[in-house]
Amino acid sequence: MTKKVRDGMSSLLKITDLHVSVEDKPILHGVSLEIRQGEIHALMGPNGSGKSTLAYTLVGHPKYEITGGSIEIDGTPLNELDPCERARKGLFLAFQYPVTIPGVKVSDFLRHAVTNVRNPERKDGESLIPMREFRKELKQKMEELGMDTEFARRYLNEGFSGGEKKRMEILQLAMLQPKFAILDETDSGLDSDAVRVVSEGVRKLSGPQMGVLIITHHERLLEYNVPQFTHVMLAGKIVETGDAALAHELHNHGYAQIRERHPAEAAEEQSRQNRPETVGVATAVAK
Ligand SMILES: Nc1ncnc2c1ncn2[C@@H]1O[C@H](COP(=O)(O)OP(=O)(O)OP(=O)(O)O)[C@@H](O)[C@H]1O
Ligand SMILES: [Mg+2]
Repeated sequence: MTKKVRDGMSSLLKITDLHVSVEDKPILHGVSLEIRQGEIHALMGPNGSGKSTLAYTLVGHPKYEITGGSIEIDGTPLNELDPCERARKGLFLAFQYPVTIPGVKVSDFLRHAVTNVRNPERKDGESLIPMREFRKELKQKMEELGMDTEFARRYLNEGFSGGEKKRMEILQLAMLQPKFAILDETDSGLDSDAVRVVSEGVRKLSGPQMGVLIITHHERLLEYNVPQFTHVMLAGKIVETGDAALAHELHNHGYAQIRERHPAEAAEEQSRQNRPETVGVATAVAK
């Protein structure tokens, strides 16, 4: 396997029976998923079903504790690696709620990130990628994404509008060119022009070298980037996997049928939400 990968075979991100708790509260209950480089997967599911939890866990957010199961790229376990090491292995997450880092300029942040990801053996203090080369690439990518190059001089996300933050995430994706990109609602909160820019940006960036997991509640991003697989999460489990037609069905009809087909998870969802007035309904469905 390892040899084949070295010879140019596509990489595999393999998630096996993953259990995750946040502050001792179990959220994911055995998620298994395989994404190959070059594939597009959609992950859908109602609010609170655990989609962002999976995304954060994959990139190693310290709050999300793996209590069982594994995450591997080409057979190498990632469970114990810190977020930087995971990025070097080719994982990238575009955040649902991008963080602001006052005092850190976009261009400095990206130059460090790009250097570290492209040169995984680099030791602290060794030189960054050459400024001239970096500037040229950054400028070109910003123009492609319709971003004002002035943004490179600003502090990361400070004072950025919601749409500008999401574009910033796509710029990071464009610069880092990861093997596996997880896009957590990169299309939410955008006006329709911005959704188009982001959707086209993702389409341009994806290809045989990138596997993509698109978490979304909207259809537009998936129209531009048609998923080969659509997974539906309910109460911390992937309860169904289908193709692009499943995503379309969920957009049109919502999750009622999914809940009917998976009564145990629907009941679990209700009990999690701890809404006494609806627990009766869930119990009825579960029977
Ligand atoms: N850091 C945290 N602290 C406490 N609870 C958390 C934390 N992160 C997630 N949870 C809980 O885990 C559950 C799943 O949340 P998650 O954000 O993964 O859902 P989601 O599927 O991404 O929902 P949405 O579609 O609204 O983004 C929720 O009940 C949430 O409150
Ligand atoms: Mg979320």
